[in-house]
Amino acid sequence: MIRSLQAIHNPFARSATAALTAFSAITLASAIVIGTTKAKDDAYKTAFYAALAGAGCGALLGWVYAGTSQTTDEVRDEPSSPPLEWHTWKDWRNFVVARKVKESEEITSFYLQSQDGGELPNFQPGQFLTIKLDISGQAKPVIRTYSLSDYVEPHTYYRLSIKREPIPAGLDVMPGIASNFLHDQIHEGDVISAKPPSGKFVLDVSKPSPVVLISNGVGITPMISMAKALTQLNPNRSIWFFHGARDGRFHAFRDEVKAIAAQNPNLMLHFAYSRPRAEDIGHHHSVGYVDAGLIQSLMVQDADYFLCGSPPFMESIREGLKQADVPESRVFFEMFTKATKTTAERPLEDASDVENAEIVFAQSNKTALWQAGADNLLEFAETNGLNPPYSCRQGICGTCQCKLLEGEVEYVETPTAAIDDGSVLICIAKPKPSRLVLDV
Ligand SMILES: Cc1cc2nc3c(=O)[nH]c(=O)nc-3n(C[C@H](O)[C@H](O)[C@H](O)COP(=O)(O)OP(=O)(O)OC[C@H]3O[C@@H](n4cnc5c(N)ncnc54)[C@H](O)[C@@H]3O)c2cc1C
Ligand code: FES
Repeated sequence: MIRSLQAIHNPFARSATAALTAFSAITLASAIVIGTTKAKDDAYKTAFYAALAGAGCGALLGWVYAGTSQTTDEVRDEPSSPPLEWHTWKDWRNFVVARKVKESEEITSFYLQSQDGGELPNFQPGQFLTIKLDISGQAKPVIRTYSLSDYVEPHTYYRLSIKREPIPAGLDVMPGIASNFLHDQIHEGDVISAKPPSGKFVLDVSKPSPVVLISNGVGITPMISMAKALTQLNPNRSIWFFHGARDGRFHAFRDEVKAIAAQNPNLMLHFAYSRPRAEDIGHHHSVGYVDAGLIQSLMVQDADYFLCGSPPFMESIREGLKQADVPESRVFFEMFTKATKTTAERPLEDASDVENAEIVFAQSNKTALWQAGADNLLEFAETNGLNPPYSCRQGICGTCQCKLLEGEVEYVETPTAAIDDGSVLICIAKPKPSRLVLDV
């Protein structure tokens, strides 16, 4: 009934419909009761008053429901732009938060529907969306990258599932800007801009080989998309789904993953809880971490491995797979954040900050003079009025990669994304003396 009410946009009509439905339902129910029992004479009167009261409640429900859904309806009824064809979406596009769902103590999902009502392009499981948030107190829009955490064809919505980033232990800094804003300030009916799905951490659904999906914490997000896509599109493929969480409170999507497994007999599940509570009994398969030992004990022959989770977790699993002679070409991974820098990862001590360099942005036909102190080539390009594509700004996602036509760069951080020959990640690179030509 709620869904039918949702379809009626006029609040008066919605209220009247709900009232009439409630009146009819109670009258019918009373008639059945009176007709089939030895009801007393005043039962008719009672039934009549009950039907009136029901109609009143129905009217109220219809009216209140109109009120709560108004924001979303208003947004949908007055699209800010004409519907987009999926292939014309290149830059920022507005999305309405159609649903906001708490998945665990830390993770909340946001279901996004295009505000213009146009189609949503397909994506490869594992890809992410880049979103832009206007947050008061921030000098410029805050841009962040979030994996698509669902896969339902045809795509009528995109789902992002976001962990609230707390202040790291022992540090006197701000909590995560975007994640806390999304959790606290973004509600159903609000609008968020996003770029089209992107990313290279993708699963080729058509391959026949077994797949091992390994995650901990919020690293589960791309894994759900992969498991669901395989279940829908290639259900004969064997899937192992390993996930680690502290306990049931921090285990997002437990029931959703169990539901995928119930639907797909070729999906094997293993949940490991590091500190299970008494009430978690029956909800996990082992106590401890998902680690190299666990993966090796269940070693699957000829499989592709997909890893996503905290940096130490990924390091340990990758090392374990290496020791088990799994070829690197079969191991795919994505990090949401960088590991705390070890000495080995720090920029080279002798990496000098070049005083002056001529930077030529070939595509844009623009030349500018780099001066010591600038952070990286991406920020330098933006300062000079250019708008190269980017997402994570940390060397993780590869979005800012461009051809280096002349010259050399040095990285201020160790890149995580795979870099094509002759290309550069400008978000973490500085020029080496003294001339650089970029295909930007
Ligand atoms: C490809 C990709 C996919 C991703 N997918 C997801 C996903 O599905 N779900 C998800 O939740 N996240 C995902 N992320 C991570 C996400 O993009 C954000 O990095 C994350 O939400 C944190 O952003 P924030 O603005 O909340 O935190 P930020 O403001 O960027 O801060 C991050 C952390 O640093 C701390 N901090 C702040 N200042 C300092 C300082 N001076 N020194 C040290 N620490 C400091 C903050 O307290 C916080 O804990 C993904 C990232 C990538 C690259
Ligand atoms: S923007 Fe992500 S690697 Fe540069």
